Amino acid sequence: MSLSLSTNQPRAPDNADDGVWLECIDCGDTFAPFEDVRYTCDDCDGLLEVRYADLPTFDDFEGQGVWRYAAALPFDAGVSIQEGATPLYEVPRLEDDIGVETLRIKHEGMNPTGSFKDRGMTVGVRVAAELGVDRLACASTGNTSAALAAYGSRGGMETLVLLPAGKVAAGKIAQASLHGARILEVDGNFDACLDIVQELAAGGEAYLLNSLNPFRLEGQKTIGLEILEGFLADYDAVPDRIVLPVGNAGNTSALYKAFRELVQAGELAEGDVPKLTGVQAEGAAPMVEAIENGADEVQRWDDVETRATAIRIGNPVNAPKALPGIRETGGTAVAVSDEAITDAQRDLAGEGIGVEPASAASVAGLRKLRSEGIVDDDERVACLTTGHLLKDPDAAAAAGREPEPVSADTAGVLEHLQN
Ligand code: F0G
Repeated sequence: MSLSLSTNQPRAPDNADDGVWLECIDCGDTFAPFEDVRYTCDDCDGLLEVRYADLPTFDDFEGQGVWRYAAALPFDAGVSIQEGATPLYEVPRLEDDIGVETLRIKHEGMNPTGSFKDRGMTVGVRVAAELGVDRLACASTGNTSAALAAYGSRGGMETLVLLPAGKVAAGKIAQASLHGARILEVDGNFDACLDIVQELAAGGEAYLLNSLNPFRLEGQKTIGLEILEGFLADYDAVPDRIVLPVGNAGNTSALYKAFRELVQAGELAEGDVPKLTGVQAEGAAPMVEAIENGADEVQRWDDVETRATAIRIGNPVNAPKALPGIRETGGTAVAVSDEAITDAQRDLAGEGIGVEPASAASVAGLRKLRSEGIVDDDERVACLTTGHLLKDPDAAAAAGREPEPVSADTAGVLEHLQN
């Protein structure tokens, strides 16, 4: 295996700021990181990555949470609400039932606003402050808007969020609303919202904090670093595979970057990089289509539908970063039905872990790949669950048991319990 996106030990270009710069993944052009606002390459419109002259080793990490990994980030501290340091749960019954050597659940729903987005926002909003912008914006299927609203308000900035009308779970809208975002409900899907917000950002109306923003992915790298440190502590080995839900493929890209940087720093052998395995809902699976067809590019799906509304996305903007990540780590991508997602949500709940539907896709995908023999029984696997159960109370109630009305006296309750 060779990680094609990895370069040799990087050398800082003249426009680097304190050993940090932006680099186009397509043409290699470099840009000063904090002088002007830019999200893609000026020359070829390719995606940008943050690069560092000095890559950290595990010994450089100290403290807890996202900022434990400051040595792998562009700043030493951010606009923080104590994000990261999420649990890596054991799930012995599920592990046995699915039939893998080890299964651990990295529950990102345990972040301050209930999803992994907080890790990206603590860095992204810090960069916004550095750039001196005062209005932040995102398109969102819900979680990004909740995190942006919380971190923006903590950073003293105005926030604007564009949501697909009628397709965002109740908990997420409530969060964005209470944290004071202006919520624009768009008569279109997430991809249409992102098209609009990109145009607003290009016009200087607001600073874009979708995962197209390379600084957000820096914060999300810390999911991969935490998983590796957790496995090394417990098993003295990194996981064979990490299974995660895919929408815009930001996390897939971020984890791949975290691992490439460890390989470059000599901290991880190329052959030990966990196989990145992406899961999408059948009704919104353009990445799976591209992986199955061996395609270089993802074709946008105009019509998408799934009960996992967080990943109801037809145009995964980070695909140019994520496709090599899946392929070069020896991973794969798989689509699962909404029914399988709900079953997996119940399976996790049966181990005490409450997640929203998109999160359960990881476990549904692992089960499917194991049953097809693509995942071996001797594998050590981490599944990422990206958002908390309470994000989508309607989906949880629909998947769970019905409340039973009883009369307001003990005899009536006892009689009811006999039935
Ligand atoms: N899981 C959850 C719960 C999410 O909210 C998202 C993305 C994903 C998975 C997919 O992650 O984009 O990195 O592949 N939610 C975005 C939002 C789109 O607006 O909240 P990805």
